[in-house]
Amino acid sequence: MPTVAVLRIGHRPERDQRVTTHVGLAARALGAEGMYLAADDSGVIASIDDVVSRWGGDFFAEDGVRWRRCIEDWKAGGGKVVHLTMYGLRMTDVIDEIRDQERVLVVVGAEKVPGDIYGLADYNVSVTTQPHSEISSLALFLDHLFLGKELDREYPDAKIRIEPTATGKRAVER
Ligand SMILES: C[S@@+](CC[C@H](N)C(=O)[O-])C[C@H]1O[C@@H](n2cnc3c(N)ncnc32)[C@H](O)[C@@H]1O
Repeated sequence: MPTVAVLRIGHRPERDQRVTTHVGLAARALGAEGMYLAADDSGVIASIDDVVSRWGGDFFAEDGVRWRRCIEDWKAGGGKVVHLTMYGLRMTDVIDEIRDQERVLVVVGAEKVPGDIYGLADYNVSVTTQPHSEISSLALFLDHLFLGKELDREYPDAKIRIEPTATGKRAVER
């Protein structure tokens, strides 16, 4: 399985804080190693770091990233770049090939992404070829990439964890 990081572009601090935080939380919960944010927004980073400190793992979140430099550095290090866009190739046609890569940077946009991204990406990938969102497309992409194995991941250093129950809520703190 590849190691995966997410690059979030197009973030507008005045309106995208909640969605970008959820991009980061979905990335963490579904097996990515971290998120690069191509904007300055320390509030988003603090929210994600707070979850990591309580719920465990070593997911990183970094803001102030220049997206073009991030992509170029990733490729220079031998990694592949996957841009999630409804206009791309069907995920089901390319996911097996992407799973064979060692390092994958998944790029997700907000409203409209710069046209250059399509040419810089190694793969432009569409999840359903229908318009939806960066959170749903990222979640489905990661789940198919990791073949569902990420769903049962444990976080041994967590300060808090859920004990699954059929009814009610059970959280254990240590
Ligand atoms: C609200 S959409 C923006 C769509 C916008 N009209 C565009 O042309 O990019 C925000 C992000 O969600 C992701 N997205 C939306 N639908 C998708 C799909 N069917 N497959 C893959 N990614 C998708 C893309 O990363 C996109 O940049």
